[in-house]
Amino acid sequence: MKVGVLTGGGDCPGLNAVIRGVVRKGVQEYGFEFAGLRDGWLGALRDDVRPLGVPEVRGILPLGGTILGSSRTNPFKHEDGVRRVKDTLAAHGIDALVVIGGEDTLGAAAELSRQGIPLVGVPKTIDNDVPGTDYTFGFDTAVGIATEAIDRLHTTAESHMRTLVVEVMGRHSGWIALHAGVAGGANVILVPERPFDIDQVCAWVKSRFEFHYAPIVVTAEGAVPKEGQMVLKDRSVDEYGHVRLSGIGEWLAREISRRTGTDARTTVLGHVQRGGTPSAFDRWLATRFGLHAVDAVREGAFGTMVALRGTGIVRVPIPGADSRTKVVDPSLYDEFEVFFG
Ligand code: F6P
Repeated sequence: MKVGVLTGGGDCPGLNAVIRGVVRKGVQEYGFEFAGLRDGWLGALRDDVRPLGVPEVRGILPLGGTILGSSRTNPFKHEDGVRRVKDTLAAHGIDALVVIGGEDTLGAAAELSRQGIPLVGVPKTIDNDVPGTDYTFGFDTAVGIATEAIDRLHTTAESHMRTLVVEVMGRHSGWIALHAGVAGGANVILVPERPFDIDQVCAWVKSRFEFHYAPIVVTAEGAVPKEGQMVLKDRSVDEYGHVRLSGIGEWLAREISRRTGTDARTTVLGHVQRGGTPSAFDRWLATRFGLHAVDAVREGAFGTMVALRGTGIVRVPIPGADSRTKVVDPSLYDEFEVFFG
């Protein structure tokens, strides 16, 4: 059997660990052959396919990014997309695909699976917002990076007695903001799931100063003021219709300064959260996903996605493009309110 592997969407630490797990088990235990499709669905559209064997995956376990490249290509936005994907697979004798992606890449995979392409999904993203799995790999690394940044910002904030706003990624979900904010001892945590009141944020900031501490405000890039709109980087959208975010951190620092008469600055962590070597947990989870994905291929469990439930790996239907993003439960957010202000 020949299996194609692709990585789509925003990259995240652990992608290479999945590829390694898939290839090592597939070759060593099942005698499969593998091919790598370059840059997600783009490689399938452009017939950009490379050999992928044990030599290609040697040494990649701790490596960030993806050796296969990635893109936000949506095959359904390209003329004859489905036929071109099928032609590429046929031209290379590829019998099945392992698709490693987030909501968008997997949404396209779910539809392609319905249209007859045998494939298995693997959930990735630093945002941790893919439904059906308790965690995605990449998230733990991103939270670690954001937490370390917050730890460092505490000391410089204290030296200057100013507010430091930290903007982390998370378009529609506040998982990174909540986990890193709690781990880093933030005084305010803002998530997209809970529109915030700027007067309340300023009240928390002021009360922090009253105790002679410098406030740390952690905000997800997708957080929105109650009376306002999401702050966008620009108006461009990708092939899945997503806008580019970033700017809420700057807006918050400006408003906090203006309303409280105190100094406030912003640090935007951006792609630092996605780069570099995966944490041990992400290597562990990504490796297990890879091993279970190749088992699913072997057993013909097409249209399924490997997922973490508790400590076990299960198979669930690949979430379609119409599935709901996995967001932060309001009651979980409320647990930490005692630390605000
Ligand atoms: O989907 C993961 C993610 O990192 C989001 O948190 C963020 O909004 C987006 O990707 C950024 O995408 P890009 O790297 O394409 O600008």
